[in-house]
Amino acid sequence: MTGTSGKALRDGRGRAVSYLRLSVTDRCNLACMYCRPKESFTFIGHDKILRYEEMLDLVGLARDMGIVKLRLTGGEPFARRDFMSFVASIRERYPEMDLRITTNATLLAGRPAMLAKLGVSAVNISLDSLDQATFARITGHDRLSAVLQGIGECLEAGIRVKINAVALRGINTAEIPAFVAMAEKSPIDVRFIEFMPVGDGNLWRPENYISAQDVVELASRAAEFVPDDSDRATGGPARMYRIAGGAGRFGVISPLSEHFCDTCNRLRITADGKLRTCLFSTKEYRLRAMLRNPALGLAAVRRVIALALRTKPLGYEVLDPGTAGKTRGMSAIGG
Ligand code: 5AD
Repeated sequence: MTGTSGKALRDGRGRAVSYLRLSVTDRCNLACMYCRPKESFTFIGHDKILRYEEMLDLVGLARDMGIVKLRLTGGEPFARRDFMSFVASIRERYPEMDLRITTNATLLAGRPAMLAKLGVSAVNISLDSLDQATFARITGHDRLSAVLQGIGECLEAGIRVKINAVALRGINTAEIPAFVAMAEKSPIDVRFIEFMPVGDGNLWRPENYISAQDVVELASRAAEFVPDDSDRATGGPARMYRIAGGAGRFGVISPLSEHFCDTCNRLRITADGKLRTCLFSTKEYRLRAMLRNPALGLAAVRRVIALALRTKPLGYEVLDPGTAGKTRGMSAIGG
């Protein structure tokens, strides 16, 4: 019954699926212009959000099916009450799970030591600007110093830090050298992500788009780059560069200009219990009602996941800029 026999879970195209991204809340304390700007606030009602106990069961099922890596995401995961206890429960029930978190780090300070103790191996931090005013402009909140504090504590606690910056032409592209300098100085992976037209009202405009290749071109003027293929080799989406003489790395994630669908190994579950097999597809499988129906429960959820995997699409085939704006926002999917 359990998938811990080592047999990999595979989708209909033969891709190994080993990674689950679980959004614990759609709520966020920031309002980033590329994701969920202030004027577009709508939240999912509490009754529709999965309880932690339900999420724990889903993670157990995923593990039984062959998932070995779990990323907790949001919204902002630390904005959900008792999130740290949830992390502890996951660790307690699934000690072998490779556990990671994606966060904006505004609420992180004071927690990294405990996270390290709970075996959180890496934290991905969404940080789009190192300049106080630009940070506030992008996110709607003046919280840069709290983020930097959180990053510092992660490094002290020995947690691997990856920074995700959405590349916004004319907004944060002038800061690319500053981000390179950061990766040079600290053992951090900085990754610029191509701005994707995902979600309602995210203010995506062609003039704010810059390709990963152009980001690399700008960045490589600031330091000597040595290509490092190790992430790609393990199925990761980032194209990374070591910086000669530096402590960390700089890289890019290019979902648009150079997709990585062929090696996509992930599933996503939204905070309201919907399974998505592709970020760019609007197709969702409603797991919550099944989970809450005693006659169906986890056995039915397992069948739905297996069925959904058979048709897990290739994102580049379904990404249509015309309909992309109608997909639900990143804040509800978790990136
Ligand atoms: N385009 C690209 N990246 C995005 N993210 C959120 N919205 C977008 C978008 N429209 C990224 C954030 C976060 C990750 C989960 O998704 O940088 O780190």
